[in-house]
Amino acid sequence: MEYAVKSGDPEKQRSACVVVGIFEGRKPSPSGKHLDEASQGALGALLRRGDIEGKTGQTLLLHNPANLLCERLLYVGCGKERDFNEARYREVCTNIARALNGTGASEAVVFLTELEVKGRDIVWKLRHAVECMEAAFYKFDRMKSQKSDKKRPLRKIILNVGKRSDLAPGENAIRQGLAIASGVTLARDLGNLPGNVCTPSYLADQARELEHQYGVKTTVLEREEMEKLGMGALLSVSRGSRQPPKLITIEYKGGKEDEPPLALVGKGLTFDAGGISIKPAAAMDEMKYDMCGGATVLGVIKACAELKLPINLVGVIPASENLPDGDANKPGDIVTSMSGQTIEILNTDAEGRLILCDALTYTERFHPAAVVDIATLTGACVIALGGHASGLLSNNEGLARELLNAGKYAHDRAWQLPLWDEYQKQLDSNFADMANVGGREGGTITAACFLARYTKKFKWAHLDIAGTAWLTGKAKGGTGRPVPLLTSWIIQRCETATEK
Ligand code: BES
Ligand code: MN
Ligand code: ZN
Repeated sequence: MEYAVKSGDPEKQRSACVVVGIFEGRKPSPSGKHLDEASQGALGALLRRGDIEGKTGQTLLLHNPANLLCERLLYVGCGKERDFNEARYREVCTNIARALNGTGASEAVVFLTELEVKGRDIVWKLRHAVECMEAAFYKFDRMKSQKSDKKRPLRKIILNVGKRSDLAPGENAIRQGLAIASGVTLARDLGNLPGNVCTPSYLADQARELEHQYGVKTTVLEREEMEKLGMGALLSVSRGSRQPPKLITIEYKGGKEDEPPLALVGKGLTFDAGGISIKPAAAMDEMKYDMCGGATVLGVIKACAELKLPINLVGVIPASENLPDGDANKPGDIVTSMSGQTIEILNTDAEGRLILCDALTYTERFHPAAVVDIATLTGACVIALGGHASGLLSNNEGLARELLNAGKYAHDRAWQLPLWDEYQKQLDSNFADMANVGGREGGTITAACFLARYTKKFKWAHLDIAGTAWLTGKAKGGTGRPVPLLTSWIIQRCETATEK
C-alpha cells in the first residue's frame, strides 16, 4: 500500500473516502465535528438515527454524505473517549484498514492523528498507523491453489496531520513504519510456510535473497565447516534429519568500518518434533514456527537495510530440524560444544539451546557491541507470560532496559525474568559440564542460564518468543514479533549515537 501525509481540513477533501473517528455515545472526533458543521447538521442528524454507537469494532460507511465534497465518509468506532489508549489506537487503525478494504474506494484520507494518545507524538501515531494497517492487509495464500487475487481497489492511504510542520517528520515516520512492516511480513511469511518448504536450506536462500536485494553479505556454513569449528552441540541436533543443517551469517554494514556491530542470533529450527524425546501429537504442526527467531533476524535486517540505518549489524541463524531417527541424539548422549564445554543431553527436545550455544560462541568472532538472541525456546515461557509479552533475560541491566523500552515504544513488549546464579545449579550433570535441561521449575530461566554459559564475553540479552511469535487457534499464524521491538531498539541506538 502507498501512504502519504497531508495537512488539510476534513470538509475540503474531495477524496474517494474520508475517515473519521467517533467515540462511544456518538461523540465525533474534532474532524467529525467540522464535517457535521460543513454538512449543516445533516451528519449529526444521521448519527442520531443510531446506526453507529461508537464502540470499537463498529464502522459506518456513508455514500455521498450531505453537502460534502468527498464521495464516501467512513465513521470508525473508537470506544469510550476516557479509555482511549495505545492499544485502542492500534485497534482502530486495524479496523480502518479492514473496513477500507471492503469498499470500492481507491484512496482514502484518514483523520486519525488528531486523537489524543497519552505521551505519544505524531511520529509514534503515524508509524503505528502504517504498521497496523499493513498487518491488517496481510494475507498468506501462497500455499493455496486458488489465490484470493480479487484486485482491491484501495491503492493509497493519506494520513492527515494537524500542522504543516508535522509533514516532514511524518514522512519519515511512514518510511519507518513501512520498513518495519516489510520486516514483519517477511517474518510472518517464513513462519507460516510449512516445514517441508521452509527447511534450513530455504532459510539460507532467503538470506542470500537479502544479499541480492540490499547488498548485505551472506555466508552459509555447511556441515563440514561446522565440524571443523567443533560445533558438536549444533550438529548433534541435526543428526536425525535428512535436511542438512546450515549456519547462516548476514552482515549489514551501514556504520563506520571499525565500529563493533550489534549481533542478532536467531533460532532457526525449521521443525521441532522433539527428536527421540518426541512431542505429543496435539498441535505439533505448530512446531514449524520454531524458526521464528531466525525469521526475526532476517526481518530486522531487512527493515534496517531498507532504512539504510547508520549502524553495523550481524545476524547469525543456526538452522536445523529436530526429528527422531536411528541416528538421532539420544537421552544421555554427551556432546562437546564449540566452546569446549561438554553437555549431557537429558532431553532431546531441549534442542534450541544446543544449536544456539554454538551459534553464540561463533558470534564472538565479530567482537559485537551487544548480542541479542531470539528463540522460541521454552513452553514454560508461554505458561509464565502468555501471548502478550516475550521473555527477556540479560547479563547486562543497561541492555535489558533499552530492549524493554523499545518494546514499549513498539507495542511489542517484553518482560524481564531473573537470571540469578542460584538457578544455575539446576543444570548440574553427573557426567558432563552441564545438562541441557534444568527440570520443570523456572524452565525459561534455566534455559537462559544454559545460554549464559556461552555469552560471558559480551553484553547479551535473550528474548524467549515461544508465546509471542505466532497465534494459535482460529487466527493461527505468524505475528512477525519481535521485529518491531528489535528494529525500534536499533533505530533508537542510531538516534542516540547521532545526538552524541
Ligand atoms: N520449541 C520448543 C519450545 C516451545 C514449546 C515453544 C511449545 C512454543 C510452544 C523447545 O524446543 C522445547 O521443546 N522446549 C522444551 C524444553 C524442555 C524439554 C526443557 C519445552 O519447553 O518443553
Ligand atoms: Mn524442542
Ligand atoms: Zn524447539
